[in-house]
Amino acid sequence: MLGHLQHDMETHASLPDELLLNTIFDYFEHFSERVQSKPREILLYQRLRQRLTQPLPELDELEHDYLSAHESLQRLRVLLRHCMEYWPQGCDGFANALKAFIEVLRQHIHQEEHTIIPAARTALTPEDWDQILHAKDQYNDPLFGERVRDEFRELRHRIIQITPEHLGGFGMIHSERMSAPHASAEMLQVRGLTSSYGRIQVLHEIDLNIRAGEIVSLVGANGAGKSTLLMTLSGLQPVDHGELRFEGEDLRRMPSHTRVAKGIVQVPEGRQVFRDMSVYDNLCLGAYAHAKKRSEINYEIERVYAKFPILRQKHRELAGMLSGGQQQMLAIGRALMAKPRLLLLDEPSMGLAPLIVEEIFHIIRELKNEGITIFLVEQNASQALALADRGYVLEVGRIVLEGSGRSLLNNEQVRSAYLGL
Ligand SMILES: Nc1ncnc2c1ncn2[C@@H]1O[C@H](COP(=O)(O)OP(=O)(O)O)[C@@H](O)[C@H]1O
Ligand SMILES: [Mg+2]
Repeated sequence: MLGHLQHDMETHASLPDELLLNTIFDYFEHFSERVQSKPREILLYQRLRQRLTQPLPELDELEHDYLSAHESLQRLRVLLRHCMEYWPQGCDGFANALKAFIEVLRQHIHQEEHTIIPAARTALTPEDWDQILHAKDQYNDPLFGERVRDEFRELRHRIIQITPEHLGGFGMIHSERMSAPHASAEMLQVRGLTSSYGRIQVLHEIDLNIRAGEIVSLVGANGAGKSTLLMTLSGLQPVDHGELRFEGEDLRRMPSHTRVAKGIVQVPEGRQVFRDMSVYDNLCLGAYAHAKKRSEINYEIERVYAKFPILRQKHRELAGMLSGGQQQMLAIGRALMAKPRLLLLDEPSMGLAPLIVEEIFHIIRELKNEGITIFLVEQNASQALALADRGYVLEVGRIVLEGSGRSLLNNEQVRSAYLGL
């Protein structure tokens, strides 16, 4: 499939399908995340190691492939964005990297089929196979586990939907570019920003920038000033000094509702839905900044319902009766009603059960894939940084670290202070 796309790109010199490619990368990424750092937990590999009398060097190679997949995919995404921006001149890097990635993948699959599986057929006992195939759920095995497979179904479904018909998909039409050309231009620029409550200065000389299409995470302990910073962006908290620009335009004197109309939309901490109003009415309120006609509002609401079917199901219920996770979906749905271009999320995972947190992060990733730029504030540093293109660490009102999500996750300081490692 990737091979076909790459061939298409080469022969027709056509603009690559950014959404489709990124969705396919998501698929591999999800796989590599699942297997990452614990390829040894693939039960098939594990058993094979135990049973083989002589070591099989291919096993090490295959395990290594799993570990390096993440790096390769990150690189592919960066090169793809560059390619979209500077097409057609800037696409060689992407084309070559994609070719190399496909080659490694082909070899990997070939080796698995021709070396590992035959070796396993002879070396493993029927009991091993039994365990591998039946203990799936318990083991949460990345290759065979049912639960893990379920996670891929959704991704596969999306890929099939948007794959062109001549490649065997449904060819659902979508905009070819996820991001506007020159998307990596700065969207939000913050320079030397300070802010105070009365005499107490809470934010000190904040420098930060967000490019269109990115997920940027801001992590920091309780009381560091994360919410204050978000509120200066949405206009609910005054700026003392410094620069604040959205697509080049000075925000400092722009009222909050004008910022919403321009696409800067905040989902506040603690969800803050209107508990005594219905789900439907809560959603309607989100549209106040732009939609005036009932038909327009209903159209937007349908889009939100399509994304969060539970909200459709409960549209008449009072928001206060929803579970925490559902309220968070409602809060995000309400923000989507305002057609955000830069979505500010203040601790969306706060107080939610781990499975629901996963779901919320999944939704955030989806929003990014739909082209919404995301600024995510979290105390849950590990997941927020894992999701982020780039991240910042805020300590007592100062940015103390910044970098790619991955580099921050690997940073010793971050690991000990925020990940408890
Ligand atoms: N309305 C307020 N009045 C006075 N101080 C406040 C107010 N809101 C927050 N603060 C203080 O500002 C600091 C940063 O708070 P906040 O931005 O809410 O941090 P975070 O979101 O990172 O937990 C804290 O010391 C907090 O006590
Ligand atoms: Mg806060």
